[in-house]
Amino acid sequence: MQTQKKIKDLRQILRTARSQGKSIALVPTMGNLHEGHLQLIRQARDRYDFIVCSIFVNPLQFGENEDLDAYPRTLEADRESLRSENCDCLFLPTIKEIYGNGLEQQTSIQVPGLTEKFCGNSRPGHFEGVATVVTKLFNIVQPDAAFFGLKDYQQFLVIRKLTKDLALDIAIHGIETHREKSGLAMSSRNNYLSQEQREQAAGLYRCLQSCAKKIEQGNIEFQQLEQAAKKELQKASLEPDYLQICDADTLQAASTETRHIAILGAVFIGKSRLIDNIRFQLS
Ligand code: PAJ
Repeated sequence: MQTQKKIKDLRQILRTARSQGKSIALVPTMGNLHEGHLQLIRQARDRYDFIVCSIFVNPLQFGENEDLDAYPRTLEADRESLRSENCDCLFLPTIKEIYGNGLEQQTSIQVPGLTEKFCGNSRPGHFEGVATVVTKLFNIVQPDAAFFGLKDYQQFLVIRKLTKDLALDIAIHGIETHREKSGLAMSSRNNYLSQEQREQAAGLYRCLQSCAKKIEQGNIEFQQLEQAAKKELQKASLEPDYLQICDADTLQAASTETRHIAILGAVFIGKSRLIDNIRFQLS
């Protein structure tokens, strides 16, 4: 596996791959790779010829009081994992390489409609930062396809929309959430949790599952279900940031007509904030 730090050098490598008729897939990450990330690499590996994984802790998507400095950086272990998954190329740019004119001067991408609620409301500017860096990575790599996790479901929808709105010719693949045995969605931010908090954190998925089950059994009192689920979270020592039953395609509050449902949840536990979701189809 090669590592490229410069856009110019990466482009050279990609030109060669393309001239050999290879299809190219991109897996953008912020590193500290776990099984969830590796699942994306594997799925990309199965379907495309040349796999680029980017590791870039994107300062533009972190708020002022967020964990940019504390974000776990484990480059050597990440490199080892990527090698064993037969990733072809690691793109490892510096902040200067991506934001050469400074963060303030960077042209940015806004994705109206999907970014105002949930994580967009709790983390102002977050999705603009994500959309901007992902668009930039798309333009640098110009992949045939890109892979994202459905754990960050709102992020997935935002990226799918920007790809469509900007007429980018890139297939966006969403990959199911990889979980610990307890049901806890794998996340680099789980590293901030103690063993006891990890066990408590698994309560978020249990709560989403029990709410989904009630809906599948015919309960359509969505607001009551949301209130009950929030109480359940609090009982499990998880402080809800949001929990909403919504239309999985638009993220608008679900109505009795909605068939494709997503329940999105975010909780605080200690100083950490964790997100998860569950999606299902009603007949
Ligand atoms: P990061 O949190 O490193 O995640 C990189 C990719 O891995 C994202 O698409 C995320 O949804 C996916 N992922 C994380 N945990 C997962 C899990 N348990 N199961 C399946 N997929 C999982 O998300 C980002 O980075 C950034 O916002 C990024 C898109 C790279 C832009 O900076």
